[in-house]
Amino acid sequence: MIAVLDEHHHGHPEFMKAVAATCHDFFTTPVAEATDIIRYVLAHAAGFARLRAQLFEPPAAGDGIGPDLLGSCPAMKRLGTLIGKFARAEAPVMIRGESGTGKELVAQAIHRASTRADGPFIAVNCGAIPEQLVESELFGHVKGAFTGAVQDRLGRAALADGGTLFLDEIGDLPLSHQVKILRFIQEGSFERVGSSRSLRVDVRIIAATHVDLAAAVKAQTFREDLFYRINVLQINVPPLRERGDDIEWLARHFLSRVKQQTPTVANGFSAGALLALRRYRWPGNVRELINRVSKAAVMAEGALITPAELDLSDPPGDRDASVINLQEARERAECTAVEQALRDSNFNLSQAASQLGVSRMTVYRLLEKHGIRIP
Ligand SMILES: Nc1ncnc2c1ncn2[C@@H]1O[C@H](COP(=O)(O)OP(=O)(O)OP(=O)(O)O)[C@@H](O)[C@H]1O
Ligand SMILES: [Mg+2]
Repeated sequence: MIAVLDEHHHGHPEFMKAVAATCHDFFTTPVAEATDIIRYVLAHAAGFARLRAQLFEPPAAGDGIGPDLLGSCPAMKRLGTLIGKFARAEAPVMIRGESGTGKELVAQAIHRASTRADGPFIAVNCGAIPEQLVESELFGHVKGAFTGAVQDRLGRAALADGGTLFLDEIGDLPLSHQVKILRFIQEGSFERVGSSRSLRVDVRIIAATHVDLAAAVKAQTFREDLFYRINVLQINVPPLRERGDDIEWLARHFLSRVKQQTPTVANGFSAGALLALRRYRWPGNVRELINRVSKAAVMAEGALITPAELDLSDPPGDRDASVINLQEARERAECTAVEQALRDSNFNLSQAASQLGVSRMTVYRLLEKHGIRIP
């Protein structure tokens, strides 16, 4: 907006404040001599508005693989193609990817694109259920089956009938329960805890893991037969650091989403912040990006979010060499300790875990992290 004022207006400070806050420029009457300048100012304002739109506008909705799973880099496009293909099949799908990459969103996208879309999508986090409750959680129980079973209860398998059962973190499933899952996947039948009657349901299995199941099979903590049964169609969800332009694009998207709920002056990212977003390793992937952007929106002191507001002012590449060495020294010490414990226990993982004072699952993660192979 451009204001045209007469001298009378100049005398009112409140009025001039409003002009300063809302207008791009102002002219004092008479304007006849100033038409060239006004034309120039208008063209400049239009150009500036276009630039601002390019810089600050959120990415167009619908650019992506689904309404929730956003991304248009080559790796995400390949993921989208696989989702479409696997949605048309009935075989189990194994989704692999680092923490926070969107494995659950991928599972939902497969379900939604499949003929089962109108059926239920039921997720079970195998790592989060206490071992003694896994079976009842999955297959249900009858009244009186165990203390606390005061009435019959349907399990997740039955709830998923006609739809998709998502077995999240299947690598965390205790060995003792793996054989029951195997039978369920092979025959579609199961018994509720406390009942001998066999029940059948029609479900499609999608599983996800962030541990290397092949290594777990070698270490004899994951059944080989179950591994081959669920590892028919595989999807690898790419880590965020490998998604190129998507990183910036997702950051803008999450910022515009945050702005709908939280008042913030932030409207975009500074050039330094964009560089930092690209250079960072993103161990927590998309979930970490959402967290950092939400926090930066709260911290922001200006329209453009800075690297410091993202907590990324100290990218690893710029760090003091001695700090890198300390980090490296820690990693090396960790690796040596794991290898030592494995040798001491003659590659018995439970023993190695207790020697190290960590859980067996942590030992698997360390094996994977350091690329240690069990002979
Ligand atoms: N491509 C994407 N577009 C938009 N949001 C995403 C995308 N990928 C992940 N997210 C969001 O990031 C968060 C983590 O996603 P999700 O829970 O699916 O990851 P995960 O791989 O299952 O993580 P974990 O290994 O920790 O279980 C969710 O809030 C999800 O909505
Ligand atoms: Mg998950």
